[in-house]
Amino acid sequence: MSHLIAPSILSANFGNLDKDIELINMSDADWIHLDIMDGVFVPNISFGFPIIKAIKKLTKKPLDVHLMIVDPDRFTLAFKDIGADILTVHLEACSHLHRNIQNIKNLGMKAGVAINPHTSIDSLKDIIADIDLVCLMSVNPGFGGQKFIENTFEKIKNLKLLIEQKKSAALIEIDGGVDLKNYKKLIQVGANVLVAGNTVFNSENPHKTIKLLKA
Ligand code: DX5
Ligand code: ZN
Repeated sequence: MSHLIAPSILSANFGNLDKDIELINMSDADWIHLDIMDGVFVPNISFGFPIIKAIKKLTKKPLDVHLMIVDPDRFTLAFKDIGADILTVHLEACSHLHRNIQNIKNLGMKAGVAINPHTSIDSLKDIIADIDLVCLMSVNPGFGGQKFIENTFEKIKNLKLLIEQKKSAALIEIDGGVDLKNYKKLIQVGANVLVAGNTVFNSENPHKTIKLLKA
């Protein structure tokens, strides 16, 4: 399978969202990555349902929703109703992760688990066979445009081994600090999905940047 590109809307121009969504629609991007922050799990607040609803109306690309909120199961149904295709929750934010994952899957969405840079790959071993995606945070969540954490390469290799061992079908998504310098190596070591915010939306030609990341 060739790798997927998921531009993160967090770095888009919210004053002219139609334009940036249209840009993604016309590009080689596979998914649209939506970062939902609650100001509790992470020290920032992003956007909520009215914006997601507007985005859903403007695009047919799958919505890859990354929840950086405490106790995310409170909103599983609401995200299904609004049109999320992939719903990712943080391992660190769930007391009952297994139940949360089952609820997401029972509603017909793909289920993802995100882990922070300090969280070990080992902590995924009893859930990896049940999920569709692991979102490896390669920055501390909360903000776009941060510096990539190099230890991520090692984590991708370990995660790949775990996925093989457990015969899991989970995709490996890398989120944070992905740029035109590190993307090739990320794919080489085993990444399947690259999220990119700053690299896409703050480039001179976002369309071309997505094409480069996809190539
Ligand atoms: C960070 C978010 C990321 C962010 C990535 O908390 O989860 O998705 O938008 O942004 P860049 O690509 O700018 O690091
Ligand atoms: Zn994200």
